[in-house]
Amino acid sequence: SRTRHYKFNVVMKNISRLCSSKSIVTVNGQFPGPTIYAREGDTVVVKVMNNVKYNVSIHWHGIRQLRTGWADGPAYITQCPIQTGQSYVYNFTITGQRGTLLWHAHILWLRATVHGALVILPKLGVPYPFPKPNHETVVVLAEWWKSDTEAVINEATKSGLAPNVSDAHTINGHPGPVSSCSSTGGFTLNVAPGNTYMLRLINAALNEELFFKIAGHKMTVVEVDATYVKPFKTDTVLIAPGQTTNVLVAADQGAGKYMVAASTFMDTAIIAVDNTTATATLHYSGTQANSLTTFAPPPARNATPVANSFTDSLRSLNSNKYPAKVPQKIDHSLLFTVGLGINPCSTCKVGNGSRIVASVNNVTFVMPSTALLQAHYFKIKGVFTTDFPGNPPFKFNYTGNPPSNIGTSSGTKVYRLSYNDTVQVVLQDTGIIAPENHPVHLHGFNFFAVGKGLGNYNPNTDPNNFNLVDPVERNTISVPSGGWVAIRFRADNPGVWFMHCHLEVHTTWGLKMAFLVDNGNGPNESIIPPPKDLPKC
Ligand code: C2O
Repeated sequence: SRTRHYKFNVVMKNISRLCSSKSIVTVNGQFPGPTIYAREGDTVVVKVMNNVKYNVSIHWHGIRQLRTGWADGPAYITQCPIQTGQSYVYNFTITGQRGTLLWHAHILWLRATVHGALVILPKLGVPYPFPKPNHETVVVLAEWWKSDTEAVINEATKSGLAPNVSDAHTINGHPGPVSSCSSTGGFTLNVAPGNTYMLRLINAALNEELFFKIAGHKMTVVEVDATYVKPFKTDTVLIAPGQTTNVLVAADQGAGKYMVAASTFMDTAIIAVDNTTATATLHYSGTQANSLTTFAPPPARNATPVANSFTDSLRSLNSNKYPAKVPQKIDHSLLFTVGLGINPCSTCKVGNGSRIVASVNNVTFVMPSTALLQAHYFKIKGVFTTDFPGNPPFKFNYTGNPPSNIGTSSGTKVYRLSYNDTVQVVLQDTGIIAPENHPVHLHGFNFFAVGKGLGNYNPNTDPNNFNLVDPVERNTISVPSGGWVAIRFRADNPGVWFMHCHLEVHTTWGLKMAFLVDNGNGPNESIIPPPKDLPKC
């Protein structure tokens, strides 16, 4: 194994999209940002230098960070932000993982433009568990705002209302030729007939689950969130913010140009979405291409069956070489409601002086002013409490009529686990305000998605249908609108680990909490001391 060194210079850069130019926060002036390449077992060292007016931190989304929580990146959770003019070196080793992940800013809404791919190749000489593709390409899906995203969220925070949605989706940084204004190209994937291509799909969008599709071509899904899955064919991929999916595409159509598209999936009617479709082109090189083979993307709404047929097909590979280590006996059986609410706010505009909030088990998470991991490690008192509830504080029909009081409580609460405990969390969506998909992301662990259902979770009967053999293993999962998912993981990573909705607007509103995992007793079971350059708050 090797050590891979990268330099991330966070700088402003003028970029034009949708017929106008604006200054955005970037890494090294690139949008999307640079791709990090490493192999399983390698150590990655990234020096991040902050040369913008905002505080910055970078998260390596999906990297386990075994004992190296100091390199995880969420601001005020594992580190204080890197201030203007300062730098911080992220140093972590990739253990037991290979596949596609992403990195992104983890503060404010900066990840709108500060994100990129993290490609982890297998160890040297270790083949993929599927036929080797001839070529590999990173495909980053994201969103583009005409206005400044920090202004968008600041305005929404002030008013208490929902923020504006983006003006376009992008594929490798471009909305593509069909968007209202730009007629310029967009991303083109040149293919040679007979070859197979692996697309490393990443959803780096702030707030939108996306469908991805290629005209005339099926895709074989082989990996999600840097874990291998049982290969299956599909014509549509569903991918939530924070998720990654590797697909194989055989260039078996011979000639011409084929539309590639990313479009929104939102399974509830009342939430505003960006309805635009980003397009790219798959082009058989050397062939005449006067016409473009197109298709109609699935509708943004009412496409739940398309979405389900994709997610229900996902299974861990669970081979001898890559076994699915699903915890069978559970130490902590938790039920977390996830959803929105309304709290009073004298200066806000919703109804009569209130604001939209979000919560987990009715707790709207309040960001601390010192990082939780620092507070834990250095035993700084008064930063957080360990009384995060393992069950909802009151019961109601979660997916039916909301309770009369839809306010939430506030606090910086963590749920405490002992090293190596096994945990089951049932994430239950609530219909307060609106039932809506919540792509929930857990830092520091992969989990197994053992069950899923609509309506209220029933602890007496639903576990009978759990898949404890080959459930998909991932780091981000959508809690279905008006339903629930059950996830399981082993707390084999001491530290403080954030869990939150990966729709940035919901994170902002408070749909987040953290697990505190104590040190174990063994020699390699404790958090290592922080690096000397760890930023101060
Ligand atoms: Cu990809 Cu906490 O985030």
